[in-house]
Amino acid sequence: MSSFDESDAFEGASLAARAMAARPAPYLDDLNPAQREAVEALDGPVLMLAGAGTGKTKALTTRLVHLLNTGRARPNEILSVTFTNKAAREMKSR
Ligand SMILES: Nc1ncnc2c1ncn2[C@@H]1O[C@H](COP(=O)(O)OP(=O)(O)O)[C@@H](O)[C@H]1O
Ligand SMILES: [Mg+2]
Repeated sequence: MSSFDESDAFEGASLAARAMAARPAPYLDDLNPAQREAVEALDGPVLMLAGAGTGKTKALTTRLVHLLNTGRARPNEILSVTFTNKAAREMKSR
């Protein structure tokens, strides 16, 4: 007869987390090395300081994709805030 205890549940969860982390992430191939570093740094805050048109918004929106794709966050756990309606529309469409 099979039994079930908390350690089985823990191992199951960690297996699911590992499976999520191993999902393909083709969107990373579209990034330059600095963007990729920012996108893959999921443990804590990241400050991106760069000039206009250098790819900050691309990195930011891809980081959100990466959080979701790796299972690190659910959509309802993400708050994405920006300063202007134009920027908000751009973030939403991307
Ligand atoms: N690594 C990249 N390779 C090709 N195009 C990119 C890359 N990063 C950004 N872009 C493109 O460059 C333009 C500016 O990027 P964007 O993220 O809006 O810059 P920023 O937010 O810094 O002003 C956009 O058209 C974007 O799609
Ligand atoms: Mg921008």
